[in-house]
Amino acid sequence: MTSFFKTTEMYRQGARTLPGRYYTSPEIFAEEVERIFTRRWVCVGRAAELPDPGDYFLADVAGESVIVLRDQGGTLRAHYNVCRHRGTRLCEERRGRLSETIQCPYHAWTYTLDGQLIGAPHMSEVEGFHKRDYPLRSPALAEWEGFLLINLAPDPEPFAQAFAPLIGRFARFNIANLRSARRIDYDVRANWKLIFQNYSECLHCPVIHPELAKLAPYTSGENDLVDGPFLGGYMTITREGGSLTLSGRACGVPVGELPATDLSRAYFYTIFPNLLLSLHPDYVMFHTLWPEGPARTRITCEWLFHADSLSRPELDPEDGVRFWDMTNRQDWHICEQSQAGVSSRAYVPGPYSPRESVPAAWDREFLRAIGHAG
Ligand code: FES
Ligand SMILES: [Fe+2]
Repeated sequence: MTSFFKTTEMYRQGARTLPGRYYTSPEIFAEEVERIFTRRWVCVGRAAELPDPGDYFLADVAGESVIVLRDQGGTLRAHYNVCRHRGTRLCEERRGRLSETIQCPYHAWTYTLDGQLIGAPHMSEVEGFHKRDYPLRSPALAEWEGFLLINLAPDPEPFAQAFAPLIGRFARFNIANLRSARRIDYDVRANWKLIFQNYSECLHCPVIHPELAKLAPYTSGENDLVDGPFLGGYMTITREGGSLTLSGRACGVPVGELPATDLSRAYFYTIFPNLLLSLHPDYVMFHTLWPEGPARTRITCEWLFHADSLSRPELDPEDGVRFWDMTNRQDWHICEQSQAGVSSRAYVPGPYSPRESVPAAWDREFLRAIGHAG
């Protein structure tokens, strides 16, 4: 929802919003799934959701169901939720605890959690059949700052290369060790790109978010990632010892060893193609976006705190949760109104202002990623 900024050097005169078909066309949506969501590193959740061997959850990426689990040796793994016998879904429940194996509910082919086939009734009678030839198929999985990311490409860009600009960048925020206090799921009737564009500017903040505008002026701060798949910057929190909360006061202890400058900043980054990362002094919020069609996006929002913030009665993490739940809903509503408008025959691309240099940069990256860059 944010990013604001004095920095206008990246503003390119003449930048315009995307044509309407990018928000409405099923064909373009199919291209996005194929060229972006099956090829990029997509955030599916947090390693902390899988504390023990056998813990798993299902992730739906680009129409695929993927089992993300922790195996008996403690290693995190991802497997397509597809049996090697006749293709049946292996797991039906969204999350849970597996025994030491995964057994297909159809004819009982059985796999270890690292994906090896160890049981296949009557297949020993089949000439030339070797169980070793039928492991589960496993997309690439990476862990970064406690986030789990999956890449469905058969030959994905190595994670360390794709995420090079971000690796180590937020170490001081201690994100991998934070605890989840809350998660809220939203169902938004808007294209996923509208959510990204909206998050990438605060020109709308005085109008849409009067509460936020009081705590952090939209003209404050600066962008520090202005081109490429990762974009954003910070805003200044005006109140000393304050944060973005309903009360305006910090609602937790600092998340990490933060220098004084970070105690009065909120950082906002878009991480292509489905993660929004918002860093406050006292909590980290992240959104993951799950496009379901040209005009529909499921969004999860989660709030992470230092463990001490969750055990000290004088602190109220809900102060931050409620603030952003309110702000999220303000954003989703205006995005739904945008979706309705850009779907009109009357809509033609409009001009971006210098305060919208980040959404313009995001659009450029999107067009590159989908292969439509001019
Ligand atoms: S489809 Fe899985 S065992 Fe037959
Ligand atoms: Fe917003």
